[in-house]
Amino acid sequence: MILAIPDVLTGAALAAARAKIEGASWIDGRATAGHQGARVKDNQQLAVDDPVAREVGAQLVAALQKNPLFVSAALPLHILPPMFNRYSGGQTFGTHVDGSIRTMPDGRRIRTDLSCTFFFAEPEEYDGGELIIEDTYGTKSVKLPAGHMVLYPSTSLHSVTPVTRGARLCSFFWLQSMIRDDARRAILFEMDVGIQRVAADSPGHPGVVQLTGVYHNLLRQWAET
Ligand code: NI
Repeated sequence: MILAIPDVLTGAALAAARAKIEGASWIDGRATAGHQGARVKDNQQLAVDDPVAREVGAQLVAALQKNPLFVSAALPLHILPPMFNRYSGGQTFGTHVDGSIRTMPDGRRIRTDLSCTFFFAEPEEYDGGELIIEDTYGTKSVKLPAGHMVLYPSTSLHSVTPVTRGARLCSFFWLQSMIRDDARRAILFEMDVGIQRVAADSPGHPGVVQLTGVYHNLLRQWAET
């Protein structure tokens, strides 16, 4: 499932976060690429331990943990600290797959189930820079408004097209979900959305409690905590 999460950050909070990121110290993105990625990766990044990256990353994660759409769709167990990248002057990232295991700052290893890309710049500020995701149902091109984020399975092959004007400024990170399997996670998400729609239309309907019970019983069957 590929899902856009709108308005993760908005207004003054988004503008302040962007200004901090833009003023930080950018380094060659190949520093953090594996041997597969290094051949096709051409961008700039903030160092993993950059204080600005830490601060804005924590702000982003805090906003996501309060975002009902994100929580319902991702069912996050561990979220890696967000990283930040910038593409300009024709920079691009060719087709690759994200590494399956990554290490948290405390040394714990987590499995990457979902990849996240958060957009700081508006689409009209730059040409190119589409995130191309090869999904089971075909190829999808993603370029979202500033403050929005896309969530997609880390199993997918993906790339970023060359940025030929302006700069594409994003945060990207991974998470381990309580539900490893993308299809099961999609079923739970659809069910949660459906239950909430029925609850809004028929408040107090006893079927809502019953279906909520089914939702939690499926989660109990499938979740890793
Ligand atoms: Ni990637």
